Amino acid sequence: MNDVIQWLKENGNLKIIDEPLDVELEIPHIAYIEVKKDDSRPLLFTNPINRNKNIEYDMPVLMNIFANKKLTQNIFGKHPDRVAEGIDKLLKLKPPESFMAKLKMIPELFALKNVFPKRLKSTGACQQLIVKKEDVDLDRLPILKTWEEDGGAFITMGQVYTQSLDGEMQNLGMYRLQQYDKNHLGMHWQIHKDASHFFDQYQKAGKKMPVTVGIGGDPLYIWCGQAPMPHGMFEMLLYGFVRGKKARLVKSMTNDIYIPEDVDIVIEGFVDPEKMKIEGPFGDHTGYYTLEEPYPVMEIETITMKEKPVFQATVVGKPPLEDKYMGWATERIFLPMLKPMAPDLIDYYMPENGVFHNLILGKMKTLYKGHAQQFMHAFWGVGQMSFVKHAIFVNEDAPELHDDMAITEYILNRLDPDKILITQGIIDALDHTANETLVGGKLGIDATGNIVQSAVEKPLEDSELLKKMQEIYSSTVDLRQYFTETKNPICIVTINKTKSVKSDIEKLFTLKKHIKVLIIVDKKNNDIDEPYMLIWRVVNNIDAQRDIITKPIIVVDGTNKSELDGFTREWPGDTFCTKEVLDSLQERGLIDIDRAFIKKFGLLPFND
Ligand SMILES: Cc1cc2nc3c(=O)[nH]c(=O)nc-3n(C[C@H](O)[C@H](O)[C@H](O)COP(=O)(O)O)c2cc1C
Repeated sequence: MNDVIQWLKENGNLKIIDEPLDVELEIPHIAYIEVKKDDSRPLLFTNPINRNKNIEYDMPVLMNIFANKKLTQNIFGKHPDRVAEGIDKLLKLKPPESFMAKLKMIPELFALKNVFPKRLKSTGACQQLIVKKEDVDLDRLPILKTWEEDGGAFITMGQVYTQSLDGEMQNLGMYRLQQYDKNHLGMHWQIHKDASHFFDQYQKAGKKMPVTVGIGGDPLYIWCGQAPMPHGMFEMLLYGFVRGKKARLVKSMTNDIYIPEDVDIVIEGFVDPEKMKIEGPFGDHTGYYTLEEPYPVMEIETITMKEKPVFQATVVGKPPLEDKYMGWATERIFLPMLKPMAPDLIDYYMPENGVFHNLILGKMKTLYKGHAQQFMHAFWGVGQMSFVKHAIFVNEDAPELHDDMAITEYILNRLDPDKILITQGIIDALDHTANETLVGGKLGIDATGNIVQSAVEKPLEDSELLKKMQEIYSSTVDLRQYFTETKNPICIVTINKTKSVKSDIEKLFTLKKHIKVLIIVDKKNNDIDEPYMLIWRVVNNIDAQRDIITKPIIVVDGTNKSELDGFTREWPGDTFCTKEVLDSLQERGLIDIDRAFIKKFGLLPFND
């Protein structure tokens, strides 16, 4: 990480902040705001402190390493598309038919020689300092508390190395880790993830599970940790492939797990499968808190470090965040791996305000009736892609998927209620909207067809439509129409909800001459003029089976659900910054934001 810092100083526009700043809220708030800027920079906090615990840490905190696309690309050493091309070539490898063809294959095969990690016999730089079990104290690490309502401090960029019970499979996953006390961490590996599958094996066998957590080292390790590699494939293979050199691993001091020799900090320990503990709440990358839930606990055996370690961390909350850039690389690199199951897929895009699992756009060469539906089912059936709640497919003649305005117009002009598929499937463990955890509604829109004929019969101005809406639906506060020039304009209304939207639905249908698509959100904390955050809110807040009606008009209920709707789970709150902390940072010149910025990214609650 010290090399990375030097490199970031020279090439990455690193911003160094020497002022003593609190790991609780202050450092996270600065990083959160920085990564939302158009020209966001990586940040090094050289003097982290914890006022509550009266600690001055002796290691710096490095954040926003993936601060922008350029930096992310530089971390890879090449554009992610080039990595994808390499993978594509490998997947299409055929036996060579001529001598020349054999020669041409050499570079591809040569690249493969780096894929397998090298296990060193020696110890690594990460083991220069060794803290014995009795001296372990997590308070020596500048672990951040990001949000006021977080259940504590969390390691947010931990590389979690685990292995299967028989030792045959290794895994690297990026999971957050809650600090409980001096020597215990909560292991937030969700039920669908590889480490959780290994945990099940240890639990069945009644054996303690070894775990080693790495922090720092080559930034590519952490990217590999979040990459959705197929079960059973060690992420270090991907590392070797991308880097073009073997990962160099050393054995943990107290268990058999191998970890990169150059990480800055290593935390080793065991998880007792019999002991679970409440984890959270934690303000997550969905922009909502994930609620308290029991998760396994790791008891720490030893911590080892480099002589001058750097603590790497990230902040999650409402988009855009550092995971926007990590996710961009993932999206590009995994495109060739999707093609074997969806060969006519041309491209796909997961807009950051869809927080990955809430929205995906796919462009395809449509060959037959039902082809888009076939893709929907394929996506919903495979690996982590199956978490995607809302999938929209367009034909090959559609504009670039990243061209937000053009692609939205294209979709709205082809939106046909008869080509909307609403079904049920597996959902991300973080989803808060489904009536029960882990299973919920899925929405698929087939926009691969021709432009639809029917349009709004009697378009009205916003003010006129608002008046009509308020006459029949008194909860309505604001109304705004988007994309009125398309066949399916979107009419969005904010309401002060006092009863379920469903109970008024029939009344809303009476406006069918003027409205084709109606989206309803709460007035509180939603700004009708901020489509970026509105999309974030709506795709987050709906369960398609419960909250969408397609006829006679399309109605989407994007409001928060409660007992008014017969919803019995707890509905989590948004991640909001702490106003006093923002004010104090602003006063000290550590951030420079205005009201518009605060509102645009929903940093503070509002109701005006
Ligand atoms: C910033 C960030 C934080 C994450 N936190 C968690 C987490 O706490 N728990 C989890 O299960 N997945 C988390 N993920 C997603 C996993 O890293 C991702 O699903 C990964 O592919 C899991 O690896 P596995 O399939 O080997 O288990 C996080 C991803 C990012 C980018």
